[in-house]
Amino acid sequence: MTEKTLAIIKPDAVKKKIIGRIIQRIEDEGFKISGLKMLLLTKEEAQGFYIVHKDKPFYASLTDFMSSGEILVMVLERENAIIHWREVMGATDPALARPGTIRHTHGFSIERNAVHGSDSLPTAEWEIGYFYKGEGKQPL
Ligand code: CDP
Ligand code: MG
Repeated sequence: MTEKTLAIIKPDAVKKKIIGRIIQRIEDEGFKISGLKMLLLTKEEAQGFYIVHKDKPFYASLTDFMSSGEILVMVLERENAIIHWREVMGATDPALARPGTIRHTHGFSIERNAVHGSDSLPTAEWEIGYFYKGEGKQPL
């Protein structure tokens, strides 16, 4: 059964002009891209997306970063999409991510780590809803 996850190409990667390489990797990994849009989040929208981290010391800096430039939001679909995308992304800290993962290759720091991926089925549903609320004609 196919599953959906929410992926984001973060502002650091958009600024580095590596959108194309990351999307190629996504397609090479067998994902269908079933939603895609470029957004410039407000600080409030970034805070809302990362609300689960509101009490963490990195919340203010993270939400400044995530609203500092355009992001590419995608819905990715395949078997075991959530876990597979997290494996392709690699560990949160690029310094700890395995060679061959996107964060190892393209991440700059634990904050500026190039990509986002949902961490569970309920999170994926919530995150997809956050960006595709009320867009019933999207093939989600
Ligand atoms: O993105 P992931 O699920 O791997 O990590 P997270 O623990 O859910 O944290 C969300 C995001 O916050 C990370 O991707 C980093 O951009 C940022 N972060 C940070 O700036 N400093 C940390 N110590 C941990 C996370
Ligand atoms: Mg997370």
